[in-house]
Order: sequence, then C-alpha cells, then structure tokens
Amino acid sequence: MKDSALAKISALAKRRGFIYPSSEIYGGLAGIYDYGPLGAQLVRNLKNLWWDKMVVEREDVFGLDGSILMHPRAWEASGHVTGFSDPLIDCEKCKKRFRPDKLPGWRLKKDDQGQFVILEVGETKCPDCGGKLSSQVRQFNVLMETSLGVIEGDKMKAYLKGESCQNLYLDYQNVVDSLSPQIPFGLAQIGKAFRNEITLGKFIFRTREFEQADVEYYVHPKEAAAAYDEWKQLRWDWYVKEVGLQEKNLRWRQHPDNERIFYASDAWDIDYKFPWGWDELEGVHDRGDYDLTQHAKFSGKKLEYRDPKTGESFVPHIVESSGGIGRMILAIMLDAYHEQEEPLRTYLSLTSKLAPYQVAVFPLMANKEELVNKARSIYQSLQKDWSVAWDDHSNVGKRYRRQDEAGTPWCLTVDYESLEDDSVTIRDRDSMAQERIPVGKLASYLKKQLD
Ligand code: GAP
Repeated sequence: MKDSALAKISALAKRRGFIYPSSEIYGGLAGIYDYGPLGAQLVRNLKNLWWDKMVVEREDVFGLDGSILMHPRAWEASGHVTGFSDPLIDCEKCKKRFRPDKLPGWRLKKDDQGQFVILEVGETKCPDCGGKLSSQVRQFNVLMETSLGVIEGDKMKAYLKGESCQNLYLDYQNVVDSLSPQIPFGLAQIGKAFRNEITLGKFIFRTREFEQADVEYYVHPKEAAAAYDEWKQLRWDWYVKEVGLQEKNLRWRQHPDNERIFYASDAWDIDYKFPWGWDELEGVHDRGDYDLTQHAKFSGKKLEYRDPKTGESFVPHIVESSGGIGRMILAIMLDAYHEQEEPLRTYLSLTSKLAPYQVAVFPLMANKEELVNKARSIYQSLQKDWSVAWDDHSNVGKRYRRQDEAGTPWCLTVDYESLEDDSVTIRDRDSMAQERIPVGKLASYLKKQLD
C-alpha cells in the first residue's frame, strides 16, 4: 500500500461501520471521529487486551479510572499551562497555520521554561499556496479550556485533560494509603485526552480528542534504569505478540536532545511504519521524579514513599508508557489490510482476539424457513461465547466479501445439506479454505482456533 493507503483504510472504515467523521450531518468537526458499531467493538477488544496484560495479569500494576476534569492547579504544576504549546507559523498569503517542526529543514528546541528556541530555519514557502511563511514562530497552547460553576462571572477556569495520565500522579498517595503497595508498582489507566492540535489530517493519527493507554511505574531511583529497559521490552512484546503487528513495521526511536522534554533522562518511541513514513505509536519515557516533585510543590503535600522494610523515604521515579488507542487502531487496520486479485477482494486479517466479530452465520437462503431456523439456533448458541454476526442479505459471495472487510475470521453457512447431515460449511477468511464441520463439534473447533 502506498500513498492512497490511508484513503483506502478510511473509506473501508466508513463503509463497514468502523469509523465515521463526527457530526457529519453538520459538516463534521476537524480532527474528531466517532467509532461505529464495528470500530467500537474493535476498540473494546484492544482495550481489554491491554488491560488484561498490563493490569489483570500483573500483581504489581493497579488500574484506575480518573475523571476528565481535574483541579486547574494540577495543570500549572505539570507545566501544561505555560509550556504545553506547539510552535506555529502562518502563511502571509492564504493565512493557513503550520507547525514549523513538521516542515522540511526546521529544527526547534524547547527550553526548560517550555519556550521554543529556533535552532535552524527551514522551508519558508507555504506548502499549500507557495506564499511566504511568516518569519516569527509563535507559541500556541494546545490545552482546551472549559469552566466550572453556575454563576456567570464566578466560574472557575478548568481544562480538559491535555494528557490522560495526570491523575495517576494525583492519586499516587491515595493508592499508597489504601492499598499499601510495595514499590516497584504501577498505576494504569485508559482515558481521554484533548489537544487543540494545529496540524490535523492523516485520518485518526492526530485528533483533537483521543484516548491514551498509560502505565506510570513507580520505582526506587536506583532501580529506574533497569525498570526502564524492562518496560521497553514489555511494550515491544505486547505490540508484536499480543496485538500481532508485523515486527518489520515497528522500530525504536530515541528522542534526540533537542526533542526530549527537559526532565526526562531518556525517552524512546515505538514508531509504526505508516503510509507517510515512520511515526509515533507510543512513548516509553523515564520521567525521573519530576511529576511527584512538581505536584508536591504546588499542592504542599508530601508525595514520597517510605519503604516499610528499610525505613528509607524517597521520591519514587516514574517510568511511563503512553500509547494512543486511535493510533493503535490505525496501525492494526493498516497492518491487517490486504488486497487480493484472484478472486478480487479486500480483507482485514485481524487476530480473532481483536476482530469485532469472530464468527458470522449465514442461512444459504433468507426466505427458506428451515434454513433460517437452523442458522438462528446455531447463531444463538455461539453468541454465549463469541461475538457473532448474522448476515442474510444478498448472496453468499457478497456476504463473504463484507465479512472479509470486517475482518471476521470464520463464516458458517447453513445449506440444504445441513438439514440432512447436521453439519455446516466453515470458511477461513485468509485462506478462503472451506470444510464441513458437524454442528456438535463447532464450539470445540472454534475454541481450538481461538486458543
Ligand atoms: N503522558 C505522556 C504523553 O501524553 P505524548 O507523546 O504526548 O505523551 C502519548 O502522547 C501518545 O498519545 C502518543 O504516542 C500517541 O500515540 C498519542 N497521541 C498524542 N497526541 C495525539 C493526538 N493528537 N491524536 C491521537 N493520538 C495522540
């Protein structure tokens, strides 16, 4: 897949009910999307996989579900109010706005006040109209504001979360007090984040409302380097072994000095090979003691850990992994997208854990009561254990094509033979191989395939 890959994926996503532009009947909203019926299930399956591996199957990680609105002081402490900005230049002719760091030749750095310093001036022509780009780089804060309270003039300015993880720092002390976890331990959350992004496009890659899956792992400062290596490996393995992304489409990229946030001692991204090139899927960062120290300073509360065995008190360091759910979904769909010529078809080779439907059931003819009844009873019995689609529109060939695009691994057809021998045709999405299976053995067959 080359340049048109993104157009093909977004068309398929809309056609099959994965992703729609939000508020489309009103002309849509730039950088905001809705997940349709199949997309919502795909997202749910992905989040379950993440939660199972990062929280449920780990003794040392605890899940949280924090609010979107937080005390505004938290965003001052985190540095977002003053420093959460993107650089911006505009075209003097067409007035469009651009991020210079995304244009060829520009190199910028953020100083420890969060202000941009230009290291190198690059392209000065507008990529859209060829007009002259302004020579001044402005700071544009991407935090989204809202207000709390009911009395006009007495409302409190608040922010929608600029990064989802912040309450994993604010709730640190509550978790320590209520669960007495032994360090090292992690706090995990999947939550919404909002950013007034300047540069949009690339479908769901960069949106203004999105979800992040974060683990903040609290460690003794001396253990931080080892924990960092461990989490890098763990997150890489999750993408390859659990999500099933092709390893050739993944790489590690270390943040160079001019990109790395000033408090991080090391920062690496897992990049995916998107149609436009390598780009960030997830960040794994060594955040040092910055977050707890800042929140302790601004709140006046001591945020430390007292080791019950040694009596030592210290500010834990944090190893963070933070990945965007939308970017994961885009990578999963791109990775699974196949076009075949003979026979002509498009299919998504989603793993059976991620596929919105694991099985589809068809009666050969929608107007033959005996076929429909038998297919219905199979459909209902499988629904207890799996996510099952029912399809009786048009002919079987077209149903296969629809399910192929939905990524459904198996299709079952109930035909006239089924009424006599109590068996069905099962068809494999990727190989298109078909075999007959007795209805009584369906559950064990599917279970084996899923395992
Ligand atoms: N707490 C750390 C943090 O927020 P980040 O690199 O800004 O770090 C982490 O974001 C991840 O969130 C990124 O790797 C990306 O997957 C996702 N992400 C960030 N901005 C996004 C946006 N505007 N749209 C979609 N996903 C985004």
